[in-house]
Amino acid sequence: MTKNTVEFVRNGKKVTLTDIVPTDSLLDYLRLTEGSYGTKEGCGEGDCGACTVVLGRHLDGKMQYRPVNSCIYFIGMVDGQEVITVDDLADSNGELHPVQAAMVEKNAAQCGFCTPGFVMALFALYHDEDAVTREKVTDQLAGNLCRCTGYRPIVDAAIDACQNKVEDKFSKQMVANAKILSALQNDDLFIGNDQRFFAAPKSAKSLSDLYAKHTDATLVSGATDVGLWVTKKLMDLPKIIFIGDVAELNQIEDSATQLTIGAAVTYADAEIAINSIDDDIAETVRRIGSKQVRESGTIGGNIANGSPIGDMPPILIAMGAKIYLQKAMVTRDLMVEDFFIAYGKQDIESGEFLTKFTIPKLKNNEYFRCFKISKRFDQDISAVMAAFHFTIDDGVINSSRIAFGGMAATPKRALATEAALQGRVIADIGQSDKLFDKLAEDFSPLSDMRASAEYRLKVVRGLLFKALNEVASVANKVEQPNMRVIGKRGA
Ligand SMILES: Cc1cc2nc3c(=O)[nH]c(=O)nc-3n(C[C@H](O)[C@H](O)[C@H](O)COP(=O)(O)OP(=O)(O)OC[C@H]3O[C@@H](n4cnc5c(N)ncnc54)[C@H](O)[C@@H]3O)c2cc1C
Ligand code: FES
Ligand code: FES
Repeated sequence: MTKNTVEFVRNGKKVTLTDIVPTDSLLDYLRLTEGSYGTKEGCGEGDCGACTVVLGRHLDGKMQYRPVNSCIYFIGMVDGQEVITVDDLADSNGELHPVQAAMVEKNAAQCGFCTPGFVMALFALYHDEDAVTREKVTDQLAGNLCRCTGYRPIVDAAIDACQNKVEDKFSKQMVANAKILSALQNDDLFIGNDQRFFAAPKSAKSLSDLYAKHTDATLVSGATDVGLWVTKKLMDLPKIIFIGDVAELNQIEDSATQLTIGAAVTYADAEIAINSIDDDIAETVRRIGSKQVRESGTIGGNIANGSPIGDMPPILIAMGAKIYLQKAMVTRDLMVEDFFIAYGKQDIESGEFLTKFTIPKLKNNEYFRCFKISKRFDQDISAVMAAFHFTIDDGVINSSRIAFGGMAATPKRALATEAALQGRVIADIGQSDKLFDKLAEDFSPLSDMRASAEYRLKVVRGLLFKALNEVASVANKVEQPNMRVIGKRGA
């Protein structure tokens, strides 16, 4: 069955849209169609958080609330969800929501541009079931920028509100809203005509049929890249196929030997599973964009976009991960490194799409480290992303997989360096070892606004030494001062 309306919930009522422009943003819908002006536009590219709204979905019998940047979230993508904005928080009698009241109480409400976004990020945190710590608050707010740096009272307000929660009106309406959401049609969505449409297939079969018919359509997962093609590059994308609702692409399978993650699983939903593989990977995922970006963006999109500076491809390459592709009902798989052919050129055919990827789990003699080098710690694109995977027996490096982002036109392995490492006693490798020169054989990086070529080559030498040094201490079970020895490594 196919439906041709977008349906979602606003303030306890079902909204039905019968006609949309495929790439109109949720922000434009709120401000220009609905006339809700509380939600602001700052950057229009997912960076500032001024446009943050919260989406509610009914999952496992509960409502789950997640913040997203409405400026780069296409309106059709809200199908089947509840949309909550800053205009909805106060009671009809004017009583402020607890997070708003705390913002006032702590003198944290400042200008009208950033404050609505902060409030909505905090509203999502208020509905998070985990304990709220200062670290969690700062992580939640990493995607909300205040140009005047008035963060301390905002963090204080967050801690105050979230550590003294009372049942708010949304908790009271939860059952009723969940009921409305469950009653919405969960059929394939196709709104528009064969020349211009927004579609949201619900199964891999529907997706492959539709994509085979419209190979010129743009696939959209979280739109944290594609959204910017519209808002910043002003591209006209007449045919959008949103894959975020495809059931098969949303699965996670965790076995003793590998983790399988569907191409449409968001960073936020993948977090628990992927964090269990390695602490460094967990830390990198936590630093991808912001909470808002991770709640809609996907690792599948990070691979498929083919960027040389995406954070996940070097990690996946070093881990020996595979991706799976499908066209019609034919599937194939390849190692992640083989997907990247040249700048802007990936091994993907017209009408083909990524379905999932698998990451082998580390064995007892395998050690992994990865490091993200960026100008800002949070909410920044890498200058260099480095990932190291060593197999070590009796202190000898038997094999390694080393991959970098930001060092070449594609994410790429350091094959000459890997060869030079083979058979070396890890504890014998000093900082001036000749093997570090191999990195200059592997890479001739560019200078750009993120870093110079010289810096990039220097930093990868340092990171390789850091990785070897840290792994040596764990593999040899030697504690060293200032060494970050992570729990399960080498246990
Ligand atoms: C503010 C901000 C901060 C960011 N920070 C980071 C960061 O720290 N690190 C980083 O690496 N990236 C970052 N990004 C980039 C972006 O968030 C990531 O690349 C993200 O993983 C893209 O996923 P998505 O689901 O949003 O992709 P989309 O935008 O939906 O799609 C990206 C591309 O992949 C294609 N595609 C998506 N899914 C499939 C599929 N299943 N099969 C075939 N093709 C597909 C699309 O057609 C498109 O070409 C940031 C972006 C923003 C806006
Ligand atoms: S307007 Fe800046 S993130 Fe949306
Ligand atoms: S108070 Fe809004 S940007 Fe600083």
